[in-house]
Amino acid sequence: MKISIINGPNLNLTGKREPEIYGTQSLESYFQVLATAYPDVEFTFFQSNIEGEIVDEIQRAGFDVDGIVINAGAYSHYSLAIADALRAVPAPAVEVHLSNVYNREPERHHSAIAPACVGIIAGFGPDSYRLAVEALDTIHNA
Ligand code: DQA
Repeated sequence: MKISIINGPNLNLTGKREPEIYGTQSLESYFQVLATAYPDVEFTFFQSNIEGEIVDEIQRAGFDVDGIVINAGAYSHYSLAIADALRAVPAPAVEVHLSNVYNREPERHHSAIAPACVGIIAGFGPDSYRLAVEALDTIHNA
């Protein structure tokens, strides 16, 4: 099974950025643990601060992988371009967030990309990504 994990703006600073919200572990180190925990899954990890590069990666990976885990950061809340890209490809996508966006500011309660995803996981820190992998594995084996 192939899974593409796509991260948007500022997620490269996870571990250093607002640790009281996003924790102290870098995503690089978490993804090493994740890849070790799922030796049968072929992961690709991508991060960009640029909306168009995220669209390019969805277009590239979305015809190749069995599932996409996407944390589009702030773009989650307003990017129709990312939502359209997710709709354009056959791979099912799970939207993830480190924080529980629904107990934060109201502008984080709306997701532009959720309607293009099979589901959302938010609020479990880096473990949100593992839960999304579990969900995609279940869909893949159904
Ligand atoms: C985030 C939540 C977003 O609202 C925010 O803009 C981020 C990170 C999260 O993982 O909790 O950059 O996607």
